Amino acid sequence: MKTIGVFDSGVGGLSVLRALLTEIPQAHFVYVADSGYAPYGERSAQQVIDRAQRITTYLRRNHAIDALVVACNTATALAIESLRSRHPDLPIVGVEPALKPAAAITRTGHVGVLATRGTIESERFARLRARTQADTTAPLHFSCQACDGLADAIERGDSATTEMLCERYVHALQSGTHTTEPMDTLVLGCTHYPFATEELSRWCGPGVTLVETGVPVARRTRDVLKMGKAEAETDDGRHGAALTLLSTGDPAALAAAAHRWLGTQVSASSLKD
Ligand code: DGL
Repeated sequence: MKTIGVFDSGVGGLSVLRALLTEIPQAHFVYVADSGYAPYGERSAQQVIDRAQRITTYLRRNHAIDALVVACNTATALAIESLRSRHPDLPIVGVEPALKPAAAITRTGHVGVLATRGTIESERFARLRARTQADTTAPLHFSCQACDGLADAIERGDSATTEMLCERYVHALQSGTHTTEPMDTLVLGCTHYPFATEELSRWCGPGVTLVETGVPVARRTRDVLKMGKAEAETDDGRHGAALTLLSTGDPAALAAAAHRWLGTQVSASSLKD
């Protein structure tokens, strides 16, 4: 059985783990929620790099992982190059805002992007945006919004603040734009945001497609591990994956979030690292 390490600043990466459990049902997943150091999105690049390096070293030493999934857009934007250069022998899959898939599905050419400040202000995001724009022949306009506080509110399960911030940021996207075309596609550029889909859809209104990245990332991980589709399917078609949950914050909160969003009854342990 392959062991795959997965980490995020907190519970957001569970939205990626959900897809991994479906796509690679015969793996052992070790999920680290770095909740003791969340949110990453408003930390310096060096702090995020340090946390990412520490967690990766821990996962390699203690769980002998075969691959790592950085289930966090912010950590991918700020730390994946540093991780790859320190761990050249470890397959590492990151998560990036789904600009290309969004460019392929938009009809109005107006795509909104919600992500953390760390992601939106990163060079990696600027390159991805420029590349997507260059590869698209039809008119394409991105409205990008840094969502301070939103991942943190979702992390804490604070539904009133989540609702208020979703309204604020969707409104900012729709009003601060330079195009008259209506936004018809919204990229969820932070792995926490799929857990606020209901609120975001409500404030966007009908006709806006929300795009997240869990499934493509899970498929990419399967390819990187050279696991074929057949190998990924159990006889009854359901996942039999083993799951270890670790948190640098409150393990009970992680177990509760996993129960709520993955439907699993797995207890979580505390990670002091
Ligand atoms: N879930 C993370 C992301 O995808 C980071 C949220 C945060 O800690 O700020 O960007």
